[in-house]
Amino acid sequence: MSLPFPILTAEEAAELIQHNATIGFSGFTPAGAAKAIPAALALKARREHAAGRPFKVGVLTGASTGPSLDGALAEAEAISFRTPYQSDATLRNQINTGQVRFVDMHLSLLPQIVRYGFLGPVHWAVVEAADITPGGGVVLTSSVGASNTYLRLADRILIELNANHPAGLLGMHDIFEPADPPARQEIPVYAPADRIGSPICVVDPKKIAGVVLTDLEDESGGFDEATPVTDRIGQNVSDFLVAELRAGRIPPHFLPLQSGVGNIANAVLAALGRSTEVPAFEMYTEVLQDSVIPLLEQGRCTFASTTALTLSPDAMRKVTGNLDFYRNRVLLRPQEISNHPEIIRRLGIISMNTAIEVDLGGNVNSTHIMGKTMLNGIGGSGDFTRNAYLSIFSCPSTAKDGKISAIVPLASHMDHSEHSVQIIVTEQGVADLRGRDPHERAELIIRNCAHPDYRDQLMEYLRLTKAGHAPLSLSLSHAMHRQFLRHGDMRNIDWEEYR
Ligand code: COA
Repeated sequence: MSLPFPILTAEEAAELIQHNATIGFSGFTPAGAAKAIPAALALKARREHAAGRPFKVGVLTGASTGPSLDGALAEAEAISFRTPYQSDATLRNQINTGQVRFVDMHLSLLPQIVRYGFLGPVHWAVVEAADITPGGGVVLTSSVGASNTYLRLADRILIELNANHPAGLLGMHDIFEPADPPARQEIPVYAPADRIGSPICVVDPKKIAGVVLTDLEDESGGFDEATPVTDRIGQNVSDFLVAELRAGRIPPHFLPLQSGVGNIANAVLAALGRSTEVPAFEMYTEVLQDSVIPLLEQGRCTFASTTALTLSPDAMRKVTGNLDFYRNRVLLRPQEISNHPEIIRRLGIISMNTAIEVDLGGNVNSTHIMGKTMLNGIGGSGDFTRNAYLSIFSCPSTAKDGKISAIVPLASHMDHSEHSVQIIVTEQGVADLRGRDPHERAELIIRNCAHPDYRDQLMEYLRLTKAGHAPLSLSLSHAMHRQFLRHGDMRNIDWEEYR
């Protein structure tokens, strides 16, 4: 089919984008991320810088992306502003040194924050597509993220038409954008498989400045091998959920699962998949990783609603090689819907995310090392945690070869408050905080989740805190962090040193 749009090289497309532009890129994780145009834009930035001219752009995406987008643009020092989430080492460093302004945001909120105009105009949408029609119908690829919103709002559009993603992905997406208040109505998703929108994004064809033809795999790497610690955490989560099922607090047909990214999430899903007591389950999540593919094939997972297929190239080939099977079992939604509080609360999601540190009140830090250094961002963890039926956080009980305890008196940064976090899991065990007062919580977390190297000193902290509703000492609450910064190890603290 011939298209009525200019066919451009990636370099020609990059030439159209001016210094200081705000760009809404496709991509939620490296899944479906624009690749050729951002890489060409990075080269343009280097040329401009070499010629003594400034060149930086504001980068909006769905979430993190791959090396050709965040990586290339950061290395070219071409990013002035970034939101809502990232995981690139170079970009992270620029954020933490103040070179890039980064706004860490709940992923469900991003599209409406863009619509409300809080981030200024979106000059360009640069979106990867599996297919495009002459009338402006766009079939997205392995993620939706915020692409539908960027395509609708941007002044102009560049499409990367990627032959690596088959046009047969048509039918896997469900594009729906809520009206803004006061016109917003209920979002009619009553089950993970409910379709409420269109399989394509429809854009004004006059806005399409060009189409770049590509044939590029998603840049989703694999994950590290499971370790005894991640396996133990996975088993602890699975055992906890089985106990909830037996107690009748999870209904016999189970509840939809949300699972974060990374090795712990993979270990949890593997343990649930293995369990003979957990029935076949559905997922209502934001990221689907490799570990779900065998579960779908074995019928252990019967349906998965997500916004991104964050799959290794091999796993992605399994999906594209059997599209009829997967189209009936996987649905890709905009992140505004995959992470929508209304739906998460209605469906009774079991949310499972990873913490950096957890404090004795049950507050969770998911983002900032020692309260200051941004790792990735809150991502969707807050969307799910705040609204889930069961909100679970897991992490290893220690980091850095045991020199850091993940259980601390007071978190050095707080993303998820004690009011939203219900269950803490480490390789040591499970602390079920539901219905517990602050003193009970603190003891449970220490006894069940803290590493044995830290239990006594955390108990000693509790003893030192004066009576009150919450066990807190303003002078000692960050003493373990200060001890690490002073001595390189949180163990064997002398509380007197910090009084
Ligand atoms: N203090 C200091 N450093 C710590 C730490 C602590 N309490 N806990 C972990 N770290 C360090 C690790 O040592 C590691 O450092 P390294 O890169 O130098 O090796 C780094 O932090 C990352 O830890 P790791 O255990 O590899 O993290 P992970 O891959 O399991 O990811 C999160 C954990 C929290 C960073 C990640 O899940 C995240 O970004 N979460 C927020 C977004 C989210 O939850 N999305 C959910 C929906 S998809």
